[in-house]
Amino acid sequence: MKTSCAILILMACFGLMNAAVKRDHNNYSKNPMRIVCYVGTWSVYHKVDPYTIEDIDPFKCTHLMYGFAKIDEYKYTIQVFDPYQDDNHNTWEKHGYERFNNLRLKNPELTTMISLGGWYEGSEKYSDMVANPTYRKQFVQSVLDFLQEYKFDGLDLDWEYPGSRLGNPKIDKQNYLTLVRELKEAFEPFGYLLTAAVSPGKDKIDVAYELKELNQLFDWMNVMTYDYHGGWENVFGHNAPLYKRPDETDELHTYFNVNYTMHYYLNNGATRDKLVMGVPFYGRAWSIEDRSKVKLGDPAKGMSPPGFITGEEGVLSYIELCQLFQKEEWHIQYDEYYNAPYGYNDKIWVGYDDLASISCKLAFLKELGVSGVMIWSLENDDFKGHCGPKYPLLNKVHNMINGDEKNSYECLLGPSTTTPTPTTPSTPSTTTPTPTTPSTPSTTTPTPTTPSTPSTTTPTPTTTDSTSETPKYTTYVDGHLIKCYKEGDLPHPTNIHKYLVCEYVNGGWWVHIMPCPPGTIWCQEKLTCITE
Ligand SMILES: *[C@@H]1O[C@H](CO)[C@@H](O)[C@H](O)[C@H]1NC(C)=O
Ligand SMILES: *[C@@H]1O[C@H](CO)[C@@H](O)[C@H](O)[C@H]1NC(C)=O
Repeated sequence: MKTSCAILILMACFGLMNAAVKRDHNNYSKNPMRIVCYVGTWSVYHKVDPYTIEDIDPFKCTHLMYGFAKIDEYKYTIQVFDPYQDDNHNTWEKHGYERFNNLRLKNPELTTMISLGGWYEGSEKYSDMVANPTYRKQFVQSVLDFLQEYKFDGLDLDWEYPGSRLGNPKIDKQNYLTLVRELKEAFEPFGYLLTAAVSPGKDKIDVAYELKELNQLFDWMNVMTYDYHGGWENVFGHNAPLYKRPDETDELHTYFNVNYTMHYYLNNGATRDKLVMGVPFYGRAWSIEDRSKVKLGDPAKGMSPPGFITGEEGVLSYIELCQLFQKEEWHIQYDEYYNAPYGYNDKIWVGYDDLASISCKLAFLKELGVSGVMIWSLENDDFKGHCGPKYPLLNKVHNMINGDEKNSYECLLGPSTTTPTPTTPSTPSTTTPTPTTPSTPSTTTPTPTTPSTPSTTTPTPTTTDSTSETPKYTTYVDGHLIKCYKEGDLPHPTNIHKYLVCEYVNGGWWVHIMPCPPGTIWCQEKLTCITE
């Protein structure tokens, strides 16, 4: 009796000692808000600007997600997706997991996780696996072995989605919950983290998640608040609208915006401390059918051709877009309800996110009080610095979440349409933006007396006292604030071979980015391009 007690106590002590030396899988004490960064690791195969693990900045994210692992379609166990890139069993393999997890040596506060699934994995295998207790057990054990072998800090479940696509809407929801319970129990002794990437769509959420229960089990959930509209639809729309427009009264548009999704999670059992909101570093694009129809909701001709880096139809990453904006003539507008830009050249129409719109999404999520931001994905940012300093979007996220601007609620496009009462007040004098684009369109819509014939409206810039007057329209070009006081030409902020034209057309302000003819540069005094 006594001896067995002593042994038990000894074992308990060893257990504690073990726990004490074990890695804290969630050590980000320095940065209290989560910055969860996904990496689409197949981007190492991009022909232009391949993205490698060494391109990751280990100090700007609190959590890094390796996308993706898969499950074996016969055994239903977790599997390395691309042994050549990911694994380290053979000398010729590239040790991706190891290099990724070793980023924690550079930043001890960093947490690294494996993400399982993703869109292209489909739903069927997962549906089959969770329906069978034996498969589930094998799966859970395989995950434990996997995390131990490759030294990840936890698992991120990215099944898209329980009950949808080739899943089973009748039983997936309960089976998914059962799986998450079993994973949670198995992870407990090791302290592994358990998270999920979850759908932004109300219809998918309703079929997939027992939110109240899942909220207790997951360390947190990454809400994929993007992909609301894209080339699978035949009209132009935005990838990630923050709010709905007043004219959008149909069900689809009422539900399909960031604000609706986040409130839906909060109203159906998710808590703020368990919610992390996604921001996209890419846009979704269409080919233009008719050059005279380039408004939101106008008919499109299908997905845009593959981007020159990412190679995916209908998708343009920020690193592609910022370079296209520099090379060609583009027309860009910000929707004041979407709080995000869209634009077109002569072939492509794209709804995307940039520095300004991301600042608004960050202000929104901070006002909402959720526990962090998720990024899809690092390789989509201008990590090479082709258009300015490297990683412009990631740096903005880091600054506004855990950096110098962490007390700022500034939305660079003006006040958000909600009138928030921030719980942690910032210093309003410095951070509250002077509302350049006011939020009620009825009052702000300028009434230009003469429609836009640039020749007659050519401004004499010196007469405008730009410090006291309120601009009619503000926007960002290459991350620089552009103020339109009237219609007319302005210098391009970063490129002397270009100029900007502020124009009011069809009820909205536009900033056109115009090239000078070859061999000439812009001269603002003469309002024309001159020979260098
Ligand atoms: C968390 O990380 C810091 C280093 O940034 C380290 O000093 C501390 O011991 C860690 N805490 C735990 C519980 O691992
Ligand atoms: C945001 O969503 C909430 C809940 O659905 C709604 O009450 C509110 O009006 C929305 N805000 C805006 C500006 O659309």
